[in-house]
Amino acid sequence: MWTDFPLFPARAANFADKVDPLYFFLVAVTVFFSVGIFLTITVFAIKYRRSVHPQAEQIKGSLAVEATWTIIPLGIALFIFVWGAAVYYSYGAPPKNALRVYGTAKQWMWKFQHADGQREINELHVPVGQDVAVTLISQDVIHSFFVPAFRAKMDVLPNRYRTVWFRPTRTGTYHLFCAEYCGTAHSGMIGWVVVMEPADYEVWLAAGGEGSLASSGEKLFRHFGCISCHRADKGARGPDLAGLYGREVHFQDGSTRIADENYLRESILAPKAKIVAGWQPIMPVFQGQVNEEQMLELIAYIKSLNQNPLNVNPNAPVPDEEQRKRNPQVEPQVIRP
Ligand code: CUA
Repeated sequence: MWTDFPLFPARAANFADKVDPLYFFLVAVTVFFSVGIFLTITVFAIKYRRSVHPQAEQIKGSLAVEATWTIIPLGIALFIFVWGAAVYYSYGAPPKNALRVYGTAKQWMWKFQHADGQREINELHVPVGQDVAVTLISQDVIHSFFVPAFRAKMDVLPNRYRTVWFRPTRTGTYHLFCAEYCGTAHSGMIGWVVVMEPADYEVWLAAGGEGSLASSGEKLFRHFGCISCHRADKGARGPDLAGLYGREVHFQDGSTRIADENYLRESILAPKAKIVAGWQPIMPVFQGQVNEEQMLELIAYIKSLNQNPLNVNPNAPVPDEEQRKRNPQVEPQVIRP
């Protein structure tokens, strides 16, 4: 019977070892004080009952007692705070070499895209023993990615990428929930995380997918005409994107920031929000033209340029302004190394 009614989720990822002790400590502190308070109430109710003490006795307070009941709980609270913060920080920083998966949440489903091009709905396949970082965004309202067996939970917001990571430690199939009320079918927004042996995972990965995320992104990069401005040669009318990801970018107003996923996304949807120093604000707005899945593909492509820069043939004719107006898809010949 108890297998159908589990009192505690399976422990299937690295964070179980960090989150569970903290959780049990909180439960222990709560039980200790609850029991203590109720015992005191009961004992005092009997000991000082009216038939024994008909006349209440005034007491004047005691600094020592008050200081004790202030300092001890303060110490306990700070201890919990420091412990919790330590767990939280290890949670918030995905390891650099983690396997990257991208997820889109929408009313009422989960969609995942793997770097190799595999796509899945309400299922997420991951290898055991490997760090996995899932970068998430919502297409509509706030959702929350929650895998109890991994102790992994992250709010999924519209307009902002957030990354949750975990290292599965046991193969198996585990519940994925949406843990933020998001509308009528919120309770149906569930799925499964399938943790596989690395070899099985490779087989699974090879079984499907229409080209990698980056290659789909490259197609979009051409389709939207990005390539006619973002180039390394003399035809460039916008910054070259090779090596951009992860680098510090300098803006016209003197500010800087690291080019992460959120920056790339903003620059595509609202290019005038931040103008890169040395360039004109001529890029059209792509708000409403690129959906979240396409955005992830474009970003994957821009990231891939760090290892594999786009080569534009320097001898190819550069489309001039007139040509561009007549046919915005005109683009120079591109050679892949
Ligand atoms: Cu999505 Cu609740």
